Amino acid sequence: MSIETFIKTYYVERKGTGSVKWDGLKEKFSDENLLPLWVADMDFKVPVAVQEALAKRVEHGVFGYSLVEESYYKAFSQWQKNRHGINIEKDWIRFTTGVVNSFNYLIQTFTEVNDSVIILTPVYYPFFDAVKNNERQLVTSSLKQENETYYIDFKDFEEKIIKNKVKLFLHCSPQNPVGRVWTREELTQLFDICQRHQVKIISDEIHQDFIQPGKKFTSALSVDDSYLTELFVLTSASKTFNLASLLHSHILIPNEEHRVAYDKYTEKIINNPVSLFGVLATQAAYEEGEEWLDELIQVVEHNYHLLKDEISQSLPKASLAKKEGTYLAWLDLSEYLSKEEMSTILEKQVKIAIDYGEWFEEKSAGFIRINLATKPENIKIAAKQLAKVLNNK
Ligand SMILES: Cc1ncc(COP(=O)(O)O)c(C=O)c1O
Repeated sequence: MSIETFIKTYYVERKGTGSVKWDGLKEKFSDENLLPLWVADMDFKVPVAVQEALAKRVEHGVFGYSLVEESYYKAFSQWQKNRHGINIEKDWIRFTTGVVNSFNYLIQTFTEVNDSVIILTPVYYPFFDAVKNNERQLVTSSLKQENETYYIDFKDFEEKIIKNKVKLFLHCSPQNPVGRVWTREELTQLFDICQRHQVKIISDEIHQDFIQPGKKFTSALSVDDSYLTELFVLTSASKTFNLASLLHSHILIPNEEHRVAYDKYTEKIINNPVSLFGVLATQAAYEEGEEWLDELIQVVEHNYHLLKDEISQSLPKASLAKKEGTYLAWLDLSEYLSKEEMSTILEKQVKIAIDYGEWFEEKSAGFIRINLATKPENIKIAAKQLAKVLNNK
């Protein structure tokens, strides 16, 4: 399917549907009528098979307590095996209602109040909240930027772990917002450091399926078996197939002792809920959504290049991070905008709603994050308007 046909088939107007991205601007921005390129969900309909699976169940008309059937486990593990080369054992899987919930639960189960938790920044902002809201000590190690690519400062990472007696590393892989897909070598170095200092690892792999053609995603589960004892991996089809509101995700726990501890914790607080529609949609997506996903990735790449071309032609002092994964573009506008004028100019003049860099780390206040999972026309409008306003400032 061409990009044009994909857009024609799957792009939908979402305004007026209670969408946070399109209808929830009031809370964070000064104007409700901005072009929304913020919240990380997509303006595309799910694969037809997913809609059909849900429609069939709606037709059936009963939504009582439900089991997760064998066919679900098969679809999930085959997806992980075929797409990422990972072998997942059924016993490892725990269901949750979201990835943010998952890392909060794990922080609560496997660390104590005042324990230190380390994160690599800039990163998805609920990482900060999860550490602070659970009264743990937040330790950050900043990624280094070179030639529009972000790298890990391993020396700083290890020094901070030692100095703060860190107990847990909350990792984002691929990294939102900078778009890095961490290599096997980088993961090995990170996990060796964690192993040396008895640091547990949570690897949030929600963006695992958005990998630029030619790049390879390495799951924390496939780096080396010796890391599995202190590892928790978080996945969901919610980002990949635009199912966020169906509230369904996985925690993978290879270590049996940790599974026992987690189960004990959940008995106390969450009574292990499973979202029926989340399960049905995820299964259909994993069974029949692959072609849709590959086409969608082409749209994301196309949009990234549209943005990149406009920036290199019209905004030469802006710098767009090289994107290897995710559907997010990370753009440095600090040569054009001061921290103080950022929101006023972007909202009042450019008329776009984006994620501000400072949400991901104070130091990134000169950046914006643009959601590319929309029709190319929206990216063109935003890029042209950005160029026009910043060049006439
Ligand atoms: C790294 C990362 N983790 C988790 C989430 C949200 O997951 P959920 O909606 O399942 O809580 C996002 C959404 O953008 C994300 O980027």
